[in-house]
Amino acid sequence: MKDNIITIDGPSASGKGTLARNIADFLGFEILDSGLLYRVYAFLFESGLKHSQIPASIKNDVSFKSDKEGIVVLNKNIDITAKLRDESTAIAASKISSLAETRENLLTIQRNFYSPAGLVADGRDMGTVVFPDAKLKIFLIASPEIRAKRRQLELQNRGQEVNMHALIEDIKQRDLKDQTRELSPLVPADDSVLIDSSDMSPEEVLSFTKKLAKKEFNK
Ligand code: DC
Repeated sequence: MKDNIITIDGPSASGKGTLARNIADFLGFEILDSGLLYRVYAFLFESGLKHSQIPASIKNDVSFKSDKEGIVVLNKNIDITAKLRDESTAIAASKISSLAETRENLLTIQRNFYSPAGLVADGRDMGTVVFPDAKLKIFLIASPEIRAKRRQLELQNRGQEVNMHALIEDIKQRDLKDQTRELSPLVPADDSVLIDSSDMSPEEVLSFTKKLAKKEFNK
């Protein structure tokens, strides 16, 4: 039984990535950003690969490296991180993630991220489908308005201007799609702890999660 796994699920821009990085640092666990994996999948598909070719390509050509800015992704030694973070890749990933073939192809790849040192897995279905036996499951939410504000800041930091109204609508639409899709919809696992970060700072979310983790992992 792999009992040193934490899953963090929730909608986009709910703060999952930041929490996952910080709690993984605190516990010395490895990290799986499954959304990034879906983005890699979409990128390879858009580059012309067939579904059947993508798992081998991820295994042989794609590497994930952590640096202080976050995760850097190389495809055949070319840095594709910025392209993966683009809105166009987010839209392609959202579309392709609803296909059974995509989800099946990524299931083993995601499980292979497990390390005996421990794993923090962030995504939409980490606690329900990919690691249903995880010891600690977090479901992180925040209001669409707060998440749009966070996303706006992120895009502005990259020199992109965005319309707040359009951003909120886009987030609501994508939530609805994620929550109502037939396969692995975005729903909390029955045994997950719900955290609403709308009125919490990242430090408060981290400190709350640290308390839960200390209890579960005797740290
Ligand atoms: O978290 P993100 O925005 O990087 O995720 C990109 C897309 O992948 C998003 O539309 C939802 C999808 N996704 C998914 O279906 N299942 C996951 N475990 C993670 C992401």
